[in-house]
Parts: sequence; C-alpha cells; structure tokens
Amino acid sequence: MTMVYEDRGDEAEAAVPVRRIRFTVNGEKKIAEVEPRLLLAHLIRQGLGLTGTHMGCDTTNCGACTVLVDGVAVKSCTMLAVQVDGHELSTVEGLATASELHPLQEGFKEEHGLQCGFCTPGMMMAAKALLDANPDPSEEDVRWALSGNLCRCTGYQNIVKSVLWAAEKLRTSAGE
Ligand code: FES
Ligand code: FES
Repeated sequence: MTMVYEDRGDEAEAAVPVRRIRFTVNGEKKIAEVEPRLLLAHLIRQGLGLTGTHMGCDTTNCGACTVLVDGVAVKSCTMLAVQVDGHELSTVEGLATASELHPLQEGFKEEHGLQCGFCTPGMMMAAKALLDANPDPSEEDVRWALSGNLCRCTGYQNIVKSVLWAAEKLRTSAGE
C-alpha cells in the first residue's frame, strides 16, 4: 500500500517516524506504513482510497466517519491508524456484495432515509453494529444506537424507519 504521511513542511523525510501495521479492511488483508499520529479516518480515506467514510467535524461530534473495528462502531476521526494493527476494519464499501445491496442500503432507499447523503455511511455503519448485536431492535434501541450520529437534513424519522426496515428484512432472510 502507498505510504501516507502528514505533510510537515520542510522537515527531513527521514525524521518522520513510521510504524508498520497489518489489518484487514472489508475482508482484505493490508499492510500500511503510517506515521503514529495519523488518524484512522485519514488512513481510510487517503491511504486506502475508501472515501465513503466521510469527515464532517473532526471532533467526535457528527459520526459521519463511523466505521467498525472488530464489529464495534467507532468514530474514525477519534482513533489512530496504529490502533487497528491486528484488527478487522469494516467500512461502508464492504456492505454491498457485487450483485446486491445490503438490507441497510435497501432500507435507506425504501424509506427515504437520506437527502444529501453525507451522514449516511456513518449512520449505516452505526446501524450495522446495532443489528449485528440486536437483530430485533425497538425504535428506542435504534435511536439510542444512532445518538452519536448527526444529520442536518432528514429529521431522523426516516433514518430510524430505514434501520427498522433493514432489521425486518434481515430477520426475514434469516427465516425467522
Ligand atoms: Fe468524526 Fe465527525 S468527523 S465524528
Ligand atoms: Fe444530509 Fe444526513 S442526509 S446530513
């Protein structure tokens, strides 16, 4: 993988400390050489080119940068890239298969859960962590799980409906 460094002006390249990390992203094994202070969000977007992970605030408020690390929803602007060494990373690009949308993606489409779409990848990843842990969530469960994700467009009602739609689809597919 291409090495990713923060630009520190005219400091000598040799002075930039680098750490090698190994991790999986959406099931693919990767090795990266990163500056220890590099944010996970920057590794994902600039290093891996997975620009579905958005950055809205850079300060742990908006949730647009939410990804899963070992299945747990985290805000990738608040984690260092070196912290995923040895771990499994999942981003929104890993939701769909080559031929099918993930039920969460279908749900957002069916229930009009997005307008500009900026918050949507983070909403979906936070929702995925919820549905993996709780396949039959209440509306309150969904609202709680998404409470760290902000949307400036939808008013949340349709986002909640989208996640409940996906939960039902997943349960039906599982034969419940
Ligand atoms: Fe990470 Fe807003 S960019 S929480
Ligand atoms: Fe625009 Fe959520 S759909 S910010």
